[in-house]
Amino acid sequence: MTDIVILGGGSGGYSCAIRAEQLGLSVVLIEEDKLGGTCLHRGCIPTKALLHTAEIADAVRGAGHVGVTASLGGVDAGAAVKYQQSVVAALYTGLQGLLKRPNIEIVFGRGRLVDKNTVEVDGRRITGKSVVLATGSYSRTIPGIEVGDRVMTSEQALTLDRVPESVVVLGGGVIGIEFASIWASFGSKVTVVEALDRILPGEDEWSSKQMLRALRKRGMAIRVGTKVDAVQETEKDVTVTLSSGDTIDADVVLVAVGRGPRTDGLGLAEIGIATERGFVTVDDNLTTSVPGVYAVGDIVPGYQLAHRGFQHGMFVAEHVAGMEPVRVDGDIVPRVTYSHPEVASVGKTENAARDEFGTATSAVYDLGGNGKSRILGTAGGVKVIRAREDGPVVGVHIVGDRAGELIGEAQLAVAWEALPSEVGAFVHAHPTQNEALGEAMMALSGRPLHAHS
Ligand code: NAI
Repeated sequence: MTDIVILGGGSGGYSCAIRAEQLGLSVVLIEEDKLGGTCLHRGCIPTKALLHTAEIADAVRGAGHVGVTASLGGVDAGAAVKYQQSVVAALYTGLQGLLKRPNIEIVFGRGRLVDKNTVEVDGRRITGKSVVLATGSYSRTIPGIEVGDRVMTSEQALTLDRVPESVVVLGGGVIGIEFASIWASFGSKVTVVEALDRILPGEDEWSSKQMLRALRKRGMAIRVGTKVDAVQETEKDVTVTLSSGDTIDADVVLVAVGRGPRTDGLGLAEIGIATERGFVTVDDNLTTSVPGVYAVGDIVPGYQLAHRGFQHGMFVAEHVAGMEPVRVDGDIVPRVTYSHPEVASVGKTENAARDEFGTATSAVYDLGGNGKSRILGTAGGVKVIRAREDGPVVGVHIVGDRAGELIGEAQLAVAWEALPSEVGAFVHAHPTQNEALGEAMMALSGRPLHAHS
């Protein structure tokens, strides 16, 4: 009997396999498509490659402003897709090499649980002392709206080999905002339609406001508090009818209204594994309601992020190996939306901090006062939230280009429950954008330096 049978070779599954093998366990990793899963093939990596193309288009457009003579001839979407695929291919080759280990057997095919120790794949029964469910997520669609040639989810949008003239993005969450940003940089006319009263509703209200302003400034139309009643596709365009009664004609419609857990047809109910709206419920050790069966990544309620999946996978491997790994705390998983500008956050929003601590105090440092941000021509700010008036840092929210690269230090501050004065006492290199985090911490501890108020 194998030590661990893992169902799904994406971020959560393959990280579990690697860690388990390092710890001397034998592993069977079952994958129905390609090792690497959504993040590598249809998610994080290809979208960030397209965002890089978008960034370069914007840089060329703005070159004259910094004294470089250049003009943007256009964006060759087909070539951008090829570049994106070359990045994915290189990483895929690397991952396949990484997983070639004596104690990892990879089985290709669709698996299904037949009992708590056994997964069946194409008639073959594979048994393990532990089973790990790591089947990931899929793009949800809106009932009544059919995906077709012009109505697409992020998966089709990634391979679109032309720059659409106009796009309506349904859903102002992470995927919607990243694609809206890409297409705006490519020169498309972009409209974002969000059902709730603000875009990026999972973020702090301050971040949503900053982003609304920044994206409108980039020329996007953003409709919040608006639902979609109907989407009618014809050969030459798509007509979107909004709940307000307005209609918009567009070349392409992107449906980005969330991702659902891929747990159908796995045999979970038959062996008594508890789920909630399709997500697998787990305890602190990521054990499902059936002991010996674990769940990791997007099928577990919480942030659907690859880096959370990696940590989950490693955690389970270490737990099965009898170690006492540090629990993966959903609260301190960093989040980044890689649009232009970016949004990065860790810890609580101000409202959540108030709910938990009764009072919360915050300071915002505007990137307008940050030398490096001025040089890069990016606007935004850093918001730091502390518990009560004298408590530790419990949340950090950053808006601005390259914000994602700044969230690491913020994560340490939140995770180690640092006081703003402690982080503000560290010397931050000048001129860096990272300095803005130091300035915000200093402002919140009552010793602002480059701040007007
Ligand atoms: P999401 O949950 O972030 O956003 C979906 C948005 O659609 C929400 O704002 C919701 O209010 C809105 N919505 C729902 N139904 C609607 C309707 N009928 N009309 C208009 N708006 C509607 O989901 P999203 O953006 O699809 O992303 C899925 C998951 O993938 C997220 O959990 C996200 O964290 C993850 N992801 C992470 C990325 C990153 O870390 N950079 C990049 C892409 C995805």
